[in-house]
Amino acid sequence: MHGIVLVELRRFVDQKFGGDTWKKLQQESGVGSKMYMAMDSYPDQEAIALVTTASRMTGKPVASLLEDFGEHLVPRFIGIYPMLIKPQWKTLDFLEHVEETIHKIVRRDNPGANPPQLTCTRVSPNEVVIAYNSSRKMCGLAKGMVKGVARHYGEEVALEEPTCMLRGGAQCKIFVKTAG
Ligand code: HEM
Repeated sequence: MHGIVLVELRRFVDQKFGGDTWKKLQQESGVGSKMYMAMDSYPDQEAIALVTTASRMTGKPVASLLEDFGEHLVPRFIGIYPMLIKPQWKTLDFLEHVEETIHKIVRRDNPGANPPQLTCTRVSPNEVVIAYNSSRKMCGLAKGMVKGVARHYGEEVALEEPTCMLRGGAQCKIFVKTAG
């Protein structure tokens, strides 16, 4: 997992739970008290251990923690990569361009970064379907990021995930509908 995600995970835990939660989380998950660097890469297993332990410590399901974290990530990523976002976009346009315009450039400019391959198809003027397939199986994060994008544009979205890797699907399919 790219360091930028882990740096943000720490910021998210500090903001949401405060105190020495992050320190405890590092100890309990067995990753040790290391300092994550935004430009480095770390084993996926560390991020997974941190989130799984956070779930155990807080009693919140992993999927819901990932969603909250995904929502937190979007304004941070937009702040870091504002040049990748076109001013005329709204929520569904943004989602349609995550793979070809955003993740592609992130991969090109950060050789250590390995964002998931997403396929986003506009099925109607107010609906897209995102096919998500990653060995990390973090569709919760993807759904949280969709909500973060909608929040950025002040739009309401309805999400449905009829097929999910965590329920035995070959990939996750996330339908995103806007009110308009
Ligand atoms: C400004 C917008 C975005 C930027 C700059 C961005 C960039 C990144 C980066 C740097 C990573 C970490 C890759 C790694 O750990 O090697 C990542 C992961 C991820 N991104 Fe994006 N992303 C953006 C928007 C989105 C959106 C809108 C979605 C969902 C539709 C999304 C879905 C994901 C997921 C699920 C991961 C976790 C890794 C995985 O599941 O394999 N991203 N992204």
